[in-house]
Amino acid sequence: MPKLTIAIDGPAGSGKSSVARLVAQMLGYLYLDSGAMYRALALKAIRTGISPDDETRLETLARDTHIELRVPSPEQEAAGAKNCVFLDAVDVTAAIRSAEVAQAASHVAAFAKVRKVLVAEQQRAGAGGGVVMEGRDIGTVVFPNAELKIFLDAAPETRAERRWKEHQEKGDRLTLAEVFDEVIERDKRDRERKVSPLVRAADAVLVDNTAMGIEETARLIVMLAQEREKDLVKAGRVG
Ligand code: DC
Repeated sequence: MPKLTIAIDGPAGSGKSSVARLVAQMLGYLYLDSGAMYRALALKAIRTGISPDDETRLETLARDTHIELRVPSPEQEAAGAKNCVFLDAVDVTAAIRSAEVAQAASHVAAFAKVRKVLVAEQQRAGAGGGVVMEGRDIGTVVFPNAELKIFLDAAPETRAERRWKEHQEKGDRLTLAEVFDEVIERDKRDRERKVSPLVRAADAVLVDNTAMGIEETARLIVMLAQEREKDLVKAGRVG
């Protein structure tokens, strides 16, 4: 069977990471979390005192930074990691998951010059196909020719509650109302920015998983991927 490129885009808390990781596991594909790259860069900006609004310095920072996504070990996976993230060879998998870093990542990601650097990295990482990449602009910008595009969404209350539970599990003392506000604010910025905003690609399948679990959502996407594989073989394009 041919190996597809699967793009999964959607807002915060839509279940992208968990679903994409499971889809990749089920298909034997590589899972890549593009948001983790924006988060890692934002973390470095915070640590080095660069304002998340300084495009010129952030672009230089992006060029001078090595961000690598690795498959987690079974122990790391048991602790909830889906991709391990290395920032200049240092493991920052847990450090990039705070609400502060999420907000900074959303600011950093609004700059065209920063995106250019990270998109090139993402395209390199997924170049071989057989990959599930998730983010905000994967189906529109990073892999516009992806064979399967999914736009994952869920009701804002549901998305906030999922994020809140994640924070609770880590022992973060944020209230549900605080997490709701953070998620809504970040989505607004991600959807309204001028460069590569979060938008459903015209050819993306809309999956609303408000009332669906991670596994059910992943199974649906795997079914769509298998259909797509068959279509491609039939059309003589691959296989
Ligand atoms: O998916 P996430 O919550 O880890 O992403 C963190 C931020 O990074 C998100 O608010 C917007 C940005 N992002 C982006 O602009 N483009 C992507 N492909 C992935 C993430």
